Amino acid sequence: MAEKGIVCVTGAGGYVASWLVKLLLSKGYRVHGTVRDPGDAKNAHLKKLDNALEYLQLFKADLLDYGSLNAAIAGCDGVFHTASPVPPGTVQNPEVELIEPAVTGTLNVLKACSEAKVKRVVVVSSVAAVSLNPNWPKNQIMDEICWSDKEYCRETKNFYCLSKTLAESEAWEYAKRSGLDMVTICPTLVVGPMLQSTLNASSQPILKLVKGLESVENRIWKIVDVRDVAEALLLVYEKLEAEGRYICCAHMIKTKELVDKLRSLFPNYNYPKNFIEAADEGAKVSWEKLLQLGWKYRPLEETLVDTVKSYQESGPFPTPGPSSTTAGPPIFAPSWRVHSTDSGLQNRVVAREVIHHTWLPSDAQTLRPVSLEVLDRDQSAAIYQLICGSNHYHRMLSTALDKLLGVQAAALESERLMVAAQNERDAAVAAKA
Ligand SMILES: NC(=O)c1ccc[n+]([C@@H]2O[C@H](COP(=O)([O-])OP(=O)(O)OC[C@H]3O[C@@H](n4cnc5c(N)ncnc54)[C@H](OP(=O)(O)O)[C@@H]3O)[C@@H](O)[C@H]2O)c1
Repeated sequence: MAEKGIVCVTGAGGYVASWLVKLLLSKGYRVHGTVRDPGDAKNAHLKKLDNALEYLQLFKADLLDYGSLNAAIAGCDGVFHTASPVPPGTVQNPEVELIEPAVTGTLNVLKACSEAKVKRVVVVSSVAAVSLNPNWPKNQIMDEICWSDKEYCRETKNFYCLSKTLAESEAWEYAKRSGLDMVTICPTLVVGPMLQSTLNASSQPILKLVKGLESVENRIWKIVDVRDVAEALLLVYEKLEAEGRYICCAHMIKTKELVDKLRSLFPNYNYPKNFIEAADEGAKVSWEKLLQLGWKYRPLEETLVDTVKSYQESGPFPTPGPSSTTAGPPIFAPSWRVHSTDSGLQNRVVAREVIHHTWLPSDAQTLRPVSLEVLDRDQSAAIYQLICGSNHYHRMLSTALDKLLGVQAAALESERLMVAAQNERDAAVAAKA
């Protein structure tokens, strides 16, 4: 395989970045991947990629630590900046949790690119930096000229959109000032199989569609396959004529149509029954510019089949079949894995094992007694909610289990003390008699 040079991928262990690293390694690039914690099990998949042993070097780097980024980017011909916080829901402190890492982080990466004299940097922005604009004429399809309105993002508390809009606009100002060769890609909702073992934010909306929701909004979904995003990133890096921003989308489809497609492919899930017409069904975008550059994308059916299969094999997707159509929390797939670095109490480990295995109320008696004490149906549902509501679900899960076990331990201890006190009273009564 012909060697292609050295490139850096920031946030290499993330959903999009993992597919990009895989693609780059398959094409003969040497990759410097930055991760916040190279020893974290959530990055273990990177080392298993083809050619990783020889061609992938991981660097510990945080977006707010310029020196660490500089060390990873030094000696590189090109950089793909993908790292940025992507929370699954609202965050407590948007300035600190979202805006600072996105904006200062991007500027740090760009400065390190200038210092290393990289030939081109590709920044992963988002359609979130394009489409939140109330002044854009209704019914006019949005293209790369459109920018999200920062004030509107702030007013409507769309802090993820704000973080991406600020990061991309400041990146362009920096590139103009410094003469850095930069291209940005603005993907819409990215779905498709996961290489990493933790559930990322953009994989959750599809998961929600099979969760047994009664009603959903019938709005426009703008979908692109994660593997096609990786191809787009490489295309704009390699094609010299690439310039400016590129919207990266492959399918625009209303919720009902999407559910119908999923149902035709996987009939046994518990799909939403009602589709509520949204007051604003969502913006339409054009990705003509990327197509003109030669980008190709796969059919939606392929993406959906591979997404669902991937979740079934390695994620928290309900097991299809009659059980998934009953009310109640979805059932954890047997291969569900929870990472945790702490060894913890024996109980906690057992509780994790229960979650690793398919949990069926009717099969409850097959679980070990201690597990039964730890998890009942409501607790499992609560844990499931926590998992679905958090990108860092493994940490949340540990906390949830600790809490449950703490309550359980306290209850057992108070029961033990009560029994001991009763025994003492009984013994005293017996002695008097
Ligand atoms: N997925 C989508 O639908 C979508 C759509 C449009 C644009 N995008 C953009 O695509 C990029 C990748 O998103 P993704 O979906 O792959 O999300 P992801 O799986 O959550 O990946 C985000 C990556 O950013 C890293 N990161 C966050 N804060 C960091 C910090 N302070 N320092 C260093 N690294 C940090 C994370 O590292 P840790 O693992 O250590 O947290 C993770 O590797 C993001 O820029 C996102 O805005 C995504």
